[in-house]
Amino acid sequence: MADFPLRFSEDDELCVCFHVSRRQIAKFLRLSRPRLASQCSECYGAGTGCGWCIPFIEKLFESHAAGLDAPVLDLTPEEYRARRREYLRRNPEARPPADTTPPPPPEPEAAWTDRLLTDDMPPESPFSLPD
Ligand code: FES
Repeated sequence: MADFPLRFSEDDELCVCFHVSRRQIAKFLRLSRPRLASQCSECYGAGTGCGWCIPFIEKLFESHAAGLDAPVLDLTPEEYRARRREYLRRNPEARPPADTTPPPPPEPEAAWTDRLLTDDMPPESPFSLPD
């Protein structure tokens, strides 16, 4: 068992509502060359559920459009999902459609997520450019 948190990988779900991985978004950007970030919704509906993943998809779109390497998402998949849960808790109008992954029940105590979160959701970008 690893003694450090595993970072977000290409195969982790960027859009949790529609189970769209970061790799699928990257492939869509490469092959479809969308002109607008919102066109990424054509990739299995990414971003059309609760809206949590939209800033992340936009960041990938911007990097791709600028010809830069994909930014590193400096979160573990668990941290990413925990932030989404908090986003859904704070934004009840942002419920995912009924036929998508329902939000998990709120966690009674999530002390470690409290340290990660600010009052402004979505959070500051956890993306960073690779060295
Ligand atoms: S996580 Fe992508 S729309 Fe909800």
